[in-house]
Amino acid sequence: MTALLSLFSLAGKTAVVTGASRGIGFAIAEGLAGAGAAVTGIARSAAPRAAFQHDVTYLSADVSEGIDAVFANIAAARGRIDILVNAAGITLPGRNGALATFEETLRINLTAPYACCLAVRPFMPAGGSIINITSIGSVLGMPGNPAYNSAKGGLRQLTKSLALDYGPAGIRVNALAPGYIETDMTARSFADPVEHERRRAHTCLGRWGKVDDLIGAAVFLASDAAAYITGQDLFVDGGWTAKGLV
Ligand SMILES: NC(=O)c1ccc[n+]([C@@H]2O[C@H](COP(=O)([O-])OP(=O)(O)OC[C@H]3O[C@@H](n4cnc5c(N)ncnc54)[C@H](OP(=O)(O)O)[C@@H]3O)[C@@H](O)[C@H]2O)c1
Repeated sequence: MTALLSLFSLAGKTAVVTGASRGIGFAIAEGLAGAGAAVTGIARSAAPRAAFQHDVTYLSADVSEGIDAVFANIAAARGRIDILVNAAGITLPGRNGALATFEETLRINLTAPYACCLAVRPFMPAGGSIINITSIGSVLGMPGNPAYNSAKGGLRQLTKSLALDYGPAGIRVNALAPGYIETDMTARSFADPVEHERRRAHTCLGRWGKVDDLIGAAVFLASDAAAYITGQDLFVDGGWTAKGLV
């Protein structure tokens, strides 16, 4: 059993998690650190919303601006970067969204994760793992947010493309696709009784997700337990994408 559990250990590994000031990124940063990694969390806020309980160093930075130097500094301090989780993201819903909104969403949710992949690549050794946080919207159409779905669909394809490009170097690239998770991003629909119930009822498990529901999947994809898994989507969505005509 000990040997089996060691497959999931991140002891001795270093990780960077973007979007770590709150929500899903915060939980994943905590989770990777709890599994033994030395984690650096990045977001724009001056400080995370809550104190980290594990070994997480927090840096204030914007993933869409000058991120190369941030990764170089982290690598210089840590020696290398084994794991990157691209969790920073925004949503700017609006059925008749302006072009500027579309471009801004793609800039943060698609171009910035790619910039982080490029920035981390020189410092990531064989055995490295990149996890892009996509969405059920990466494969399904949703009303009122064409920019978000386009960006997440693009991030899903970027994941597969980089799995090919980085595979020969022993670096895996996977997408972790949450369903509806209770965070700031979903606060409006979580608080709306009609929307809340509609989203709850569309899952197979009959409930919204919590940020901690993402931790096991993130640790798995980051760890040697997933050593032969790359270019894949792992949906953590309570069965949302499995559900058909009901
Ligand atoms: N919640 C859901 O149901 C759900 C479902 C599917 C996918 N997702 C995805 O999961 C990820 C996390 O979302 P969440 O629900 O946890 O949302 P959230 O609570 O709004 O958190 C978003 C995070 O991204 C950071 N961020 C935004 N823009 C940034 C920038 N330019 N540079 C650096 N950090 C930035 C925010 O920190 P600062 O404001 O401090 O910069 C925050 O830490 C996103 O990619 C989102 O699209 C969420």
